[in-house]
Amino acid sequence: MSKNPHHGNMATRTEPEKCRDQDLGLFEIISRDSYARIGRLHTAHGLMTTPMLLPVVNPNIRTIEPREMWEKYGIEALITNSYVIWKHDDLRTEAKKNGIHQLIDFPGIIVTDSGTFQSYIYGDVEVGVEEIIQFQKDIGVDIGTILDVFGRPDMPFDELDKSVIETSSRAKKSLEVSGEKLLLNGPIQGGTYQELRIKSAQLMSELQGPFRGFTIHPIGGIVPLMEQQRYKELFSILIASKSSLPPDRPIHLFGCGHPLLFPLSIALGVDIFDSAAYAIFARDDRILTPTGTLKLDDLKEWPFSSNALFGTTPAQVRSMNKEEKTILLSHHNLEVTQAELARCREAIRMGTIWQLAEQRSHSSPQLREAFEWILDQLDNPEEGPIGDTILELMGSSNPIRSGGEQISEDIEFRPHILHIQALLATRWRFPGSWWNGKSGPPERVIILEGFQPPWRNSAKEKIIQLLDEIPETVILILTPLGLIPYTIEDLSPWCHLNGPNDMWNDSLFDYEVEELLSELGLSSYSYTIINKNDEDISEVKTSPEIRKWLDRCSIVDKLSILCGLHPLEGCKFTENMTSRKSSTDRMVNIFSDEKHVLSPRLTDGGISLTIDGAKKLLDLNQNPLPDFNQLPSDEIFPGIPRVRIVDDAIPFVGKGRNVMHGYILGADPHLIPGQQCIVISSSGELIAHGIAITTSLEMRYMKKGIAVKVKNGNL
Ligand code: GUN
Repeated sequence: MSKNPHHGNMATRTEPEKCRDQDLGLFEIISRDSYARIGRLHTAHGLMTTPMLLPVVNPNIRTIEPREMWEKYGIEALITNSYVIWKHDDLRTEAKKNGIHQLIDFPGIIVTDSGTFQSYIYGDVEVGVEEIIQFQKDIGVDIGTILDVFGRPDMPFDELDKSVIETSSRAKKSLEVSGEKLLLNGPIQGGTYQELRIKSAQLMSELQGPFRGFTIHPIGGIVPLMEQQRYKELFSILIASKSSLPPDRPIHLFGCGHPLLFPLSIALGVDIFDSAAYAIFARDDRILTPTGTLKLDDLKEWPFSSNALFGTTPAQVRSMNKEEKTILLSHHNLEVTQAELARCREAIRMGTIWQLAEQRSHSSPQLREAFEWILDQLDNPEEGPIGDTILELMGSSNPIRSGGEQISEDIEFRPHILHIQALLATRWRFPGSWWNGKSGPPERVIILEGFQPPWRNSAKEKIIQLLDEIPETVILILTPLGLIPYTIEDLSPWCHLNGPNDMWNDSLFDYEVEELLSELGLSSYSYTIINKNDEDISEVKTSPEIRKWLDRCSIVDKLSILCGLHPLEGCKFTENMTSRKSSTDRMVNIFSDEKHVLSPRLTDGGISLTIDGAKKLLDLNQNPLPDFNQLPSDEIFPGIPRVRIVDDAIPFVGKGRNVMHGYILGADPHLIPGQQCIVISSSGELIAHGIAITTSLEMRYMKKGIAVKVKNGNL
C-alpha cells in the first residue's frame, strides 16, 4: 500500500496499488459531517482520498514536477489536458507509445480534461466527441472527460438549455466508446439557472454505458463566476446540481482551486477541486493563503509559513530571478492548498467543518454574502428541490457529538444544531404521567435561568424542591441556544457550549420566551422564570420517587428524540426499569425486566442499545418493512430506524460484521448517520444493531463501504 502523508509520515512513497477489478470507479464514504464527506475512489492507479485537489499539470510547462508531487507532497491524483497532448504531435506520439503515466512521469491517478475549456477561451476545438474519448482511452488515462459544451453565465436561457442537451447527447456517445477501463467525468452545465442545473444533473446521472455510467460529476461553466467572485450564484448552482446527483458519485468543482472556497464547498458536498492557481498566482508574484491572496511586493514577513518559504524573507524572494521565484512560490502555494485540505478533512473527522466554513466566510465580503444566503436557506428551507436538499443536508448530520461546541454569531444555523433542535421541537412531549402517578396536562412551567451545566449539579436540588411542591411541573432550562427540558440536561450540544460565562444569563439570540415555549408545545401553560440569583432551597429533599421519575423521563425523552419512539411506547419500554449508577450518581446501565436494554452515553448524552434493547424496540416498530421504493412517511414517531439486508449477508452481520453497501434491500428514511439503528432480515427478524454511517438515500445507491457499524449481532 502506498503511504499517504495525509494520514501519517511519509518516508518513501511506493507505487500505487491497483484496485480490485470489481471496485474500479466505486466511491465509498469513510467519515462524514453532514454533506461533507471523507471518501475513497477506487482506481487502477490507487485510491483517491477526498476531499482533494487535482493540481493542474500543463504537459508543456511543468512548474512542479509531477514526480515531486507524488513523492514529496503525497499527491494521489493530478489533472492534465488530453486535448493539449492530442494537439502537439510530439506529445501525442509519446503518449500513444508509452502511455500518459510515463509521459507525465506520475505513478498515481491521472485525470484529463477534454478541450472544452480551450473551446471556451479560444473558440472551437478541432477534435471530435468520440475521437477525444478514444484518445484518452488509448493513452491510458484513469479518469477522462467528455467534450462538454461550456455554458457561460452570460448566455441566455435558451442557449444554455441547448448546451445542456448537447452535452448530454455527447455524453451518451462518449459512454458508448469509453470501454471497460476508462472512467469518465460527466460535467453538469446550465449557467446560473437552477432549473437547468437540475435538468443537466438528471440527464447526466441517468446515462449508462456498456460498462458503467459516469464516475464523477464535475460542475462546469463556473470559472467566470469565480473570477468575478459571484459566490452566491456559485453555491446556488452547486446545491441545485447536488439535489439531482446520486450520492455515490464524487462532485468536482471544475476550475476551483482557491483555498478560501474549500471549507464551504466541502460543507455543501464537494469532493474534488482542481486548479492551476498554485502556478498561475506564483507566476504573478502572488501567494495563496487560506483566507485570501497576497502580493509578494506588499510583504515584509510571511503571514503563513511553509516548507518552501522557511528560511527565506519576502525581500530575498523578491530578489530572485523570475524562474526561481515562480518555482518557489508555486511550491508554497501548493503546500498552503494541501494544508487547507488537510485542515478540512480533519474538521470533517472532528465534526467542525461548518465552524471552519463560518470562520472562512469572514475573509471576503462576497463569500460572507454567499454564506449568509445559505444560512437563510437553512433557516427557512423553500419548497422544492433546493429546500429538500437543504433539509437532507440537515437530516444527514449527526445531531449529537461529544466535545465542546464553540459559540459564534452563526452557531444556531449549524446544520447539526438545527437538526437536534428540530428533533426536540417535533418529538418532545411533556410527561404522560407525573411522579405522583397522576396524568394530565402540566399545572405550571418553570424556566430556570442563569444556571450553568452540568445542571444535574447546579439545579437538581432546586428542581426536586419545585416538583415536590407541585408534581405537575414541567422544568425547562434556558440555554444560550434556547429552552430545553431538564430531562435532556446532559445532551450535546446544550451541555457542552464553549463561550463566555455571561452567556448563561440569557439566550444569545433575541428569542421571546413565548416563542420558545410554543416550539415545545407549551404556549398554553402559565410559566415562571426562576433566576439562579433568586435561588432559595429551604431544605434538601431525598425524594427517591422524584429522582427515579426524572431518570425515567430522561430515558423516555431520549428514546423519542433520538430513536423516534412514541413517548407512550417509551413509557411502556421503561415501565419496570431499574438502573445501575456511577459513583457520581449518573445512570450507566438501564435494565428492563432484569435485562440490560441500553446504556446512556456519558460523553454526549446519547444512548447505546444492547441486543435486548434492540429486540424490544424492534417489536415496538410495527411499520411496513423498509423498502427503497417507499416514500418517506411524515410520521413524527416513526419508530427505531431499520436497515433491511439481503439474506446472503445474515451469517456475517448476525455474527457482528458490519453491514456493507450493496447488501441492503431498504432502510427507513428517517435513519440518522451517527445514531442507533437495527439491522433486520428481508422478513423483518432482528439480525444486529449498530450505528448508521450513511443515510438511507446513500444506502440505496452506494456499492462500496460500510453502511452500518455493527455493535452486536443476534446469531
Ligand atoms: N474546466 C473548467 N470548466 C470546465 C468545464 O465546464 N468543462 C470542462 N470540460 N472543463 C472545464
